[in-house]
Amino acid sequence: MVEKISFTINGQLRVVEVDPEMMLIDVIREILNLTGTKRGCDNATCGTCTVVINGKATKSCNTPVSKVAGAEILTVEGLAKGKELHPIQKSISESGAIQCGFCTPGIVMELYGLLENKPDASELEISNSLNKHLCRCTGYEPIKDGALMAQKLIQDRNKH
Ligand code: FES
Ligand code: FES
Repeated sequence: MVEKISFTINGQLRVVEVDPEMMLIDVIREILNLTGTKRGCDNATCGTCTVVINGKATKSCNTPVSKVAGAEILTVEGLAKGKELHPIQKSISESGAIQCGFCTPGIVMELYGLLENKPDASELEISNSLNKHLCRCTGYEPIKDGALMAQKLIQDRNKH
C-alpha cells in the first residue's frame, strides 16, 4: 500500500508516495538523495542515522515515515547557511573529531538537538547524548572537546 506523506525537510516541503512503513532513513537517502545521513547498524544502535525531527534528535533507521507526516526534519545538509558552517560543524571539525567521518553527521545532529534546545546543558548531559553514538576511530575525547567548544560558540552566538 502506497500513501502520500508530506513533511518539511531542510526548509523545503516534500511529498513522497511510499509505503508508510518504510523507514525514514530509506526515504531520506534513497528517495530524497540526502546521503549525508549515514546507515550504520540499521538497528537503532550506532546513531549514524540521527536526524532532527521537530527539534529532537531521532534515529531515522527505526522511524517509519508515517510518523513524520507534517513534521519538520533537519538533516546535516540543512545546517550550514550558505558557506557558513553551523557552530557544531565548525567545532567538531576543529577539535579533530573527524577521522573517517562516518559517525560525524549523526553526532552533529545529536548535538544540534541538545544544544539548540538547551545551550546550558551540563557536561553530563552532553556525555549522555554522545553515548548514543559509536565511533570506531577517535576514542571519543576529541568529539567531547568539539561538543564543549560548540556549546561555547552557541552560547556566544545567542548573546548577540
Ligand atoms: S543506522 Fe540507525 S542507529 Fe545505526
Ligand atoms: S570518525 Fe570514524 S567512526 Fe567516528
